[in-house]
Amino acid sequence: MDSVTRLGVVGCGLMGSGIAEVAARHGLDVRVAEATPEAAETGRRRVTGSLDRGVRRGKLSEEERDGALARLSFTHDLGDLADRQFVVEAVAENRDIKTEVVRSLDKVVEDPSAILATNTSSIPVVDLAVATGRPGQVIGMHFFNPVPVQRLVEVIPALTTSADTVRRTRDFAGRLGKQTVQAPDRAGFVVNALLIPYLLGAVRMVESGGARPEDIDQGMELGCAHPMGPLRLLDLIGLDTAQAIAESLYEEFKEPLYGPPALLRRMVAAGHLGRKSGRGFYAYDA
Ligand code: CAA
Repeated sequence: MDSVTRLGVVGCGLMGSGIAEVAARHGLDVRVAEATPEAAETGRRRVTGSLDRGVRRGKLSEEERDGALARLSFTHDLGDLADRQFVVEAVAENRDIKTEVVRSLDKVVEDPSAILATNTSSIPVVDLAVATGRPGQVIGMHFFNPVPVQRLVEVIPALTTSADTVRRTRDFAGRLGKQTVQAPDRAGFVVNALLIPYLLGAVRMVESGGARPEDIDQGMELGCAHPMGPLRLLDLIGLDTAQAIAESLYEEFKEPLYGPPALLRRMVAAGHLGRKSGRGFYAYDA
């Protein structure tokens, strides 16, 4: 099956909501599954809020927003994804949770040719693939935050992924208006393997009292033309997510530069997760 019209998205946090929004805006019928009715409702509000913001900023018309909303449905029952042709899971960056979701999707999704993609940022795709009965159709599809803005999708074939699945996934990403690069199934893939040590280096600089967050961020924004400095970017990504990625990288490579600094761990323990909790290296309106 080449032309995907029915997409499933599991998880409607930062990434899942962005993926669902982009797909609905590009004309797909999108069904989003969350764990509870409350989480599904929060997800619906998140996507609606982002589409409304798009209208306010003149990015899309009211008709386009309404059309996208009409193509979106939300559920707390994974079984409602039975008729999907392509599913992207974007649940929390936790190996056990992702494995369970992919295993359940394999049972639920009826079309044997359907692709199950994982938006993991660091867990080996092959570990998820072999948890299913269709390891040839499991692939990594790594989106970037904010999904409606960032053009890249990393496509990560596991050792088990078929060439046809890679082709169909690249085509599908193209239909969402994204460009793809192919990345190896190693922790961090291409982008995070380079980005995370840089971000952790900035945390260490704060930790050692070497520089203030504002100076570090301004340095990289003004000196290197980055759209945002490393600490603002950590707040955007979420400190808990960054810590989870760093741990996966450290587990894989045992390189000290991938080890999460104590300050990052303490901030996560304190619930200072960045924008999503209202406080990280900076404070945000709720
Ligand atoms: N949804 C939709 N559009 C958004 C948006 C969102 N959440 N946030 C920003 N935008 C749009 C705005 O509408 C605006 O569009 P126009 O210029 O066409 O009007 C544009 O993006 C710029 O936004 P703002 O003017 O509000 O703010 P900004 O100029 O400071 O840009 C930013 C914000 C897009 C986040 C920019 O700072 C940026 O690109 N930062 C770097 C983000 C990055 O590196 N992301 C990758 C993170 S790593 C990752 O995701 C992988 C992982 O596994 C951790």
